[in-house]
Amino acid sequence: MSRAPGAKPVNEHIQEFSCQLNDLAATEALAHTLGSQLKAGDLIILTGALGAGKTTMTQSLGAGLQVREGIISPTFVLARQHPSLVNGPGLIHVDAYRLDGANDVDTLDLESTLAESVTVVEWGHGKVEHLSDSRLEILLDREAHSAPVANPWEEADEELDEPRQFTLKAIGPRWDTETFSQLKDALLGAINEQPRGEKHD
Ligand SMILES: Nc1ncnc2c1ncn2[C@@H]1O[C@H](COP(=O)(O)OP(=O)(O)OP(=O)(O)O)[C@@H](O)[C@H]1O
Ligand SMILES: [Mg+2]
Repeated sequence: MSRAPGAKPVNEHIQEFSCQLNDLAATEALAHTLGSQLKAGDLIILTGALGAGKTTMTQSLGAGLQVREGIISPTFVLARQHPSLVNGPGLIHVDAYRLDGANDVDTLDLESTLAESVTVVEWGHGKVEHLSDSRLEILLDREAHSAPVANPWEEADEELDEPRQFTLKAIGPRWDTETFSQLKDALLGAINEQPRGEKHD
């Protein structure tokens, strides 16, 4: 995939963490904790096939961040603003699926809200990296043995509860080794506190 112009140097340092999310509750718990750890200025890029759980994860992230509810899959509105309920950073939720690249993204003017918000971009890979010198990249994968998705939009209504493979990459000065390690511990704690306790590596 091509990069946004001037998006990032090729040799940047990437820290990485992966785990399995056994079910929807695990995804929600992890995302809620992630949201509680984020700060104004943070940029999160969500990658995963249709129906992987990007919007689902954003909903729990928003709950953890304590912003106004109502996070949905955008249809015509590509960027939605969810103000904080606790005088913290708001959430800017973007679905970049229909956007062609960095030039299209620039029409959303995300720069103007980036500094005081947490910006979460579904399908943002290769399109929004230029907005910040630091970012978290999240990859959500359905299991290889999961049933194929004939129509992911229909499936989203069926409330299927399945495992997901979660990969987190942290890039840039915001995520120094210590900060990333704290985040990782918090996320692992969230999964381990799951009632079912069926954590897999
Ligand atoms: N472990 C899980 N984690 C996340 N979602 C899950 C999980 N198991 C089942 N699901 C279901 O998968 C669906 C994910 O839909 P969602 O709209 O979040 O996907 P998406 O990645 O945003 O899709 P799109 O690419 O269309 O934006 C939801 O119906 C959710 O309930
Ligand atoms: Mg979505």
